[in-house]
Amino acid sequence: HSLDKGEYRHFMLKEIHEQPAAIANTLEGTLGEDHVLTAVLGPEAETRLKDIQNIHIVACGTSYHAGLVARYWIEEQAGLPCQVEVASEYRYRQVAVPANTLLIAISQSGETADTLAALRYAKQQGYLASLAICNVAGSSLVREADWRLLTKAGPEIGVASTKAFTTQLVALLWMTTALAQVNDRAPEMISANVRALKGLPRLVEKVLHLDQHIEELAATFASKHHALFLGRGPHYPIAMEGALKLKEISYIHAEAYAAGELKHGPLALVDENMPVVSVAPSDSLLEKLNSNLQEVRARGGQLINFACERAELDNGEGSIHLSLPWVYESVSPIVYTLPLQLLSYRVALVKGTDVDKPRNLAKSVTVE
Ligand code: G6P
Repeated sequence: HSLDKGEYRHFMLKEIHEQPAAIANTLEGTLGEDHVLTAVLGPEAETRLKDIQNIHIVACGTSYHAGLVARYWIEEQAGLPCQVEVASEYRYRQVAVPANTLLIAISQSGETADTLAALRYAKQQGYLASLAICNVAGSSLVREADWRLLTKAGPEIGVASTKAFTTQLVALLWMTTALAQVNDRAPEMISANVRALKGLPRLVEKVLHLDQHIEELAATFASKHHALFLGRGPHYPIAMEGALKLKEISYIHAEAYAAGELKHGPLALVDENMPVVSVAPSDSLLEKLNSNLQEVRARGGQLINFACERAELDNGEGSIHLSLPWVYESVSPIVYTLPLQLLSYRVALVKGTDVDKPRNLAKSVTVE
């Protein structure tokens, strides 16, 4: 039953382990052989997909991080300009809306006050339409948006969002692929995305086995007061999400940087008391990331690399290396999220904080 912890010590751990099933449920009935089934969006949305020329995304917290990943996907794969903003800023400024822009509001609960207000504001701004990506079918956001795409993560009880985030990413990659499809982008890319999405539940299951190794390094981490998270490209928002998770449940101050920005300030903080976590898939930016990591090592920083087993990272003294299986580029941000969730969970356990109900935070912020 989704409302009890079963064999798990915390809802958060249970929800981390539910991700293979949550992803499979979200994808059920949405994929064809080598294309996505755009009819899932409903007849009105399906016919208007090809009119979309611009995307604006609004959300809060973890859902905002999902939007940031989607921007990399949408601009690269669908060729459409995309902007992403936290709902609390968006709702109070004068937004310039180009013709034929789709507004996407992302929310686990569909009841977050700022996100709902952003949607209501957007409805007065001449958008082509609004789309809610949401985990609660009967929520206010879903009722008020023109179109909907539901994540099927099931109830999420832990305040720190886990399975809702990865299923949001799945929905957003699906949406990117739908937009690529109606814009006649490379069919090989579309079919590769479909294949990668289908293989995702199994891959995610495999990555959960890293938990044992992560548990071993949690103790050293728990005595630290600060941490840096680094990533590049779509893995930069994944680093942001990793830092947010650590802050939320272990109360360790963590910040994420795009790895290329390290030399513009945060490098001054690096010493042996500053663990640096890097997200290092085997992509076109790996070499660049590697030289960023050497800068950290040269300053005595403790490096923890979550890296592709095929990545040739310079493995100097003082680095801890955790290998992930090779994954197709599009789904890589989803896969690399899991070890970061586990890291924050294991560190919080060592610290003895209230994992499922962190101090000062609410699962759903329904007042401003
Ligand atoms: C709260 C929760 C976060 C969540 C954010 C947005 O701050 O603690 O985990 O990411 O709200 O919630 P939503 O339901 O809109 O995704």
